[in-house]
Amino acid sequence: MSFTYQAGTPFAGDGIKDVSGTIHDGSYTAIIGHTGSGKSTILQHLNALLKPTSGTVTIGDKVITNETNNKNLKPLRQKVGMVFQFAENQLFEQTVAKDIAFGPQNFGVSEQDALALADKMVAMVGLPHDVLEKSPFDLSGGQMRRVAIAGVLAMQPEVLVLDEPTAGLDPAGRHEMMTMFERLHREQGQTIVLVTHQMDDVADYADTVWVMAKGRLIKTGTPREIFSDPEWLKANQLGLPKTAQMAQQLTAKGFHFDPQPLTETELADQLLPQIGGGQRG
Ligand SMILES: Nc1ncnc2c1ncn2[C@@H]1O[C@H](COP(=O)(O)OP(=O)(O)OP(=O)(O)O)[C@@H](O)[C@H]1O
Ligand SMILES: [Mg+2]
Repeated sequence: MSFTYQAGTPFAGDGIKDVSGTIHDGSYTAIIGHTGSGKSTILQHLNALLKPTSGTVTIGDKVITNETNNKNLKPLRQKVGMVFQFAENQLFEQTVAKDIAFGPQNFGVSEQDALALADKMVAMVGLPHDVLEKSPFDLSGGQMRRVAIAGVLAMQPEVLVLDEPTAGLDPAGRHEMMTMFERLHREQGQTIVLVTHQMDDVADYADTVWVMAKGRLIKTGTPREIFSDPEWLKANQLGLPKTAQMAQQLTAKGFHFDPQPLTETELADQLLPQIGGGQRG
């Protein structure tokens, strides 16, 4: 499928071209690529916020084309929960509870049940119970982001789509949030599609990677496959996870790694025997 912004006008341009791929149920897919490569444009096709200019997008049993009517898309919007870049900018209700309950109520859940969901989701995103009655605008930026995510989770989507959910958070906040998504994925089988510029997160959490460049999907594979060619990554303005970078530097000093360590645990397991630390503990 392809998508052109403002197709058919003199301003037509860019978007995504000839993208063809499948996101499997239960997978954790990371979409990476240089800024402007088309990551956010792809995401917006996953719940038909954008419709392909040509070709089709199939989501579950629903086939979306350029001609698809906006009616009847509601079930799809519930199935695929979308957390936009800087999602906290979309909060609007007077209280956190009301904000989180808004989505489910919009989809026919009773007020009482929606508020119960708000209660549950606030805990799920690691916020204290007492934020429920506060104004979302009295919270910190990181807390507001969590409220926005709780609002999407309250719709109980089958697929959770995240557009740079940790952008602008400090390292601790970033780690907590990534751990939360990992828990949803592992414990509840939540399908996750994550756009990120953090190669460490790709290595730590994703099972599948899509690499975008100039609107095209130029490579798909496991993190190990994608990170196996540092020259290719550099040519596409992408980097390695920190662990692999460190292993590269240590290799230059005579250490040996095989396979390339992609997580801290893998790095430590291979490094300790080489520095005589393998006997400890
Ligand atoms: N609303 C829009 N109108 C016109 N062109 C757009 C619009 N949004 C994006 N584009 C263009 O489409 C292309 C893909 O943009 P997109 O936002 O999908 O990239 P991205 O990979 O998400 O980038 P980033 O990492 O900066 O978020 C870019 O060339 C961009 O300039
Ligand atoms: Mg984007």
